[in-house]
Amino acid sequence: MNTPVKVAVTGAAGQIGYSLLFRIASGQLFGPQTPIQLRLLEITPALAALEGVVMELQDGAYPLLDSIEIGDQAERVFDGVNAALLVGARPRGPGMERRDLLEANGAIFSVQGKALNAVAADDVKIVVTGNPANTNALIALSNAPDIPAERFTALTRLDHNRAIAQLAAKLDAPVREISRMTIWGNHSASQYPDIFHARVGLENAAELVDDLTWLETDFIPTVANRGAAIIAARGSSSAASAASATIDHLHDWALGSAADDWVSMAVPSDGSYGVPQGLVSSFPCICRAGEYEIVQGLEINDFSRSRIEASVAELAEEQRAVRALGFLG
Ligand code: NAI
Repeated sequence: MNTPVKVAVTGAAGQIGYSLLFRIASGQLFGPQTPIQLRLLEITPALAALEGVVMELQDGAYPLLDSIEIGDQAERVFDGVNAALLVGARPRGPGMERRDLLEANGAIFSVQGKALNAVAADDVKIVVTGNPANTNALIALSNAPDIPAERFTALTRLDHNRAIAQLAAKLDAPVREISRMTIWGNHSASQYPDIFHARVGLENAAELVDDLTWLETDFIPTVANRGAAIIAARGSSSAASAASATIDHLHDWALGSAADDWVSMAVPSDGSYGVPQGLVSSFPCICRAGEYEIVQGLEINDFSRSRIEASVAELAEEQRAVRALGFLG
């Protein structure tokens, strides 16, 4: 057995939490040799519901689940954590403007960034799922000066997985044949799912599709608006697929992405592909030995360039808004 890993999950009594926790407990995050110590953070009114989730986790009798602690104080819950899955966030309520949403989440993620900075383990890896995920990650990292910025990431793996599924359906190909999918930019309707470098087996996906109209009017909007389509159909937002993608993101970051493939992760930009340094933007990343690297040297055509720029401009606008609100440290 490996050394136990302390994993924090925020918003643990929520929808995504309910799909996520049981998979973590069963070893799907760090593999069958790594015991897990769960640290679950919720707001005070949700602690009673969280107690119920804890009972169910206990009733799973998961051999890898060493302990579960819950609480409503970030500094206590995050103490010594090696991984933090920041899922809990303030959803947009009736009558809430975008500024109100950024403000409510700025308050949450600045406090959590400070708490991680104070008490997390030196090797902590952080993934923000709670929306607006990229900008929440930016706020958290800006409030955690002692944690290397690149340890803060945000989830675009769900978009990546959705894009793979749509392409597989279009080409009547098995999902496992598709590699090198890329999501660029923000986890929002402005995101750009890029198939120009994707492969189906060894063949280029864009050449196989050979249909720019389908890309523009079907593929890109379907992937970008999938969340809304699920809300319309299910009556509540995507939770199991978001939990699954959160596991994929951290699993691959910790244990490595597949050979000859890459994954999409929103990470602090180092200036690659003209994305201003510091913005938390989605890139193609290769993960090895617990680290990730942005894939370099991809040729970006005009079709892709304008779409990447539009999504990055939205991120820059969000950055300006949260800076004006005083959340960037
Ligand atoms: P939910 O509303 O069911 O659960 C959120 C939970 O977070 C609630 O239990 C709430 O009490 C808790 N919470 C709120 N503030 C908190 C705080 N300060 N500390 C700890 N917990 C807190 O929502 P759901 O469906 O679980 O979604 C969670 C977030 O994930 C939402 O922001 C949603 O928009 C986002 N999301 C992101 C996706 C992505 O691909 N990046 C995909 C799907 C959802």
